[in-house]
Amino acid sequence: MATARDLRDWIALLEREGELVRVSAEVDPKLEVTEIVDRTVRADGPALLFENPKGSGIPLLINQFGTEKRMCLAFGVESLDDIAAKLGDILEMQPPDGLAAKVRGLKTLKSIADSRPKVVKRGASQEVVLRGDEVDLGRLPVQTCWPGDAGPFITLPAVITRDPRTGQRNVGMYRMQVLSPRSTAMHWQIHKDGRADYLFTEGRMEVAVALGLDPISAYSASAPLPKHIDEFMMAGFLRGEPLELVKGVTVDLEVPAHAEIVLEGYVEKDEELAIEGPFGDHTGYYTPAEQFPVFNVTAITMRKDAIYPSIVVGKPPQEDAWLGKATERIFLPAVKMTVPEIVDYDLPVAGAFHNLCIVSIKKAFPGHAKKVMHAIWGLGMLSLTKGIVVVDEHVDVHDYAQVMFYVGANVDPKRDVVITEGPLDHLDHAPTLQFVGGKIGIDATAKGPLEGTREWPPEIEMSDEVRDLVDRRWAEYGLGLTVPVAGNGRISQSSRRVLRH
Ligand SMILES: Cc1cc2nc3c(=O)[nH]c(=O)nc-3n(C[C@H](O)[C@H](O)[C@H](O)COP(=O)(O)O)c2cc1C
Repeated sequence: MATARDLRDWIALLEREGELVRVSAEVDPKLEVTEIVDRTVRADGPALLFENPKGSGIPLLINQFGTEKRMCLAFGVESLDDIAAKLGDILEMQPPDGLAAKVRGLKTLKSIADSRPKVVKRGASQEVVLRGDEVDLGRLPVQTCWPGDAGPFITLPAVITRDPRTGQRNVGMYRMQVLSPRSTAMHWQIHKDGRADYLFTEGRMEVAVALGLDPISAYSASAPLPKHIDEFMMAGFLRGEPLELVKGVTVDLEVPAHAEIVLEGYVEKDEELAIEGPFGDHTGYYTPAEQFPVFNVTAITMRKDAIYPSIVVGKPPQEDAWLGKATERIFLPAVKMTVPEIVDYDLPVAGAFHNLCIVSIKKAFPGHAKKVMHAIWGLGMLSLTKGIVVVDEHVDVHDYAQVMFYVGANVDPKRDVVITEGPLDHLDHAPTLQFVGGKIGIDATAKGPLEGTREWPPEIEMSDEVRDLVDRRWAEYGLGLTVPVAGNGRISQSSRRVLRH
């Protein structure tokens, strides 16, 4: 399946698939859009294109990522695991054995090399150029999402910076509170790469912000890639087509040629920090006001008939659930690369992704579950995970009732609970100190004698013969039910269903 080249292509695809509704009524980006979207997301509803946002001539697109189906459409796959398989092929590349393997290996390497963004001379994102006094962020239909928000926030930006030491690009999704017609706050949190670039910069740091990208490039800004990997290169690899970039008009940075809108500007290291927030966040709470750098806008460039993209975060589930689920699936091969005994993992949407990780493992030795907990607490952004539940490989980590069953059945809290401490998500309000606090790991695997237990009882299962017999004779019993799948004592309540509640 081909992926969308830009936001328009994406909107056209969504419309063809019956996945987008145009709203022609005038709707206020202040609170009203949020209430409509909140209801739409919870009903598994369509993407919405508000054609007449109050106070702006620019339409607002929202809920483009709000269902699993749309996320798969965005990536041109049947299931999100297919994306992981594509990346997994690269991670698992072995020295080739024989000519056919060499050719395959070369093809894979070529597709990586071909993913690098291409710089072109002209881009639709610069059809209109507004500089200096012409810059007015008030033209954009920026949402004030929740009643307690400090003001309007740009919520779906791809923020482009460079590492001053290496010149390497970083793209991150960091919300931006509009402070004045020509400035915003830049909310890169303490663990993020954009902030690292800022800390290494002396004096002025150029920044560009792309709004309204093809869905894969927009997603890639939210992907927790290692610092040295260019998010736009990953986007090119996943799109099967490199991104085209153009030189900024007021900054020495390259910006997506196909973006709807680009904000160019700078962050001055010596400028007084702004008070940012409160903001109703994906934690389901307002994050309190805090100090963040000011982004000064030197130019707005855009298409003649630009479309502004937005997203609402709040009490889960919201639209960002599927951005997070895409990351969970896409990064599974990389997680397995480092911790190969991991079979699968699930970051429940209701756990705001960093609060809980359920992981299944091929347990091979005493204390193995605890080894895996510590590995996760040392792994990239997963290191911020507050709670980890480890189950055996046959448990479906996406089936929360099954997980709950094994937590209840297999855990001796005195023996199987690990309490430790470490870094926590910037926005977590529960720990006594910001950024650091307690962590909990629960080992819900079956225990062996070397773990100091009595004999572990077998799990209840019906024999294959009797199951086959009942399958064959089902109609004879006259129960009037289609043959239910043999349960095997399994509880089933899939995460997909939980997500929709
Ligand atoms: C909708 C949305 C909004 C986000 N807002 C922020 C934010 O305001 N600040 C932040 O540091 N991370 C935010 N994130 C998470 C980052 O985008 C994510 O951690 C990403 O990996 C950061 O890029 P980096 O690793 O290059 O720093 C947001 C993610 C999503 C999906």
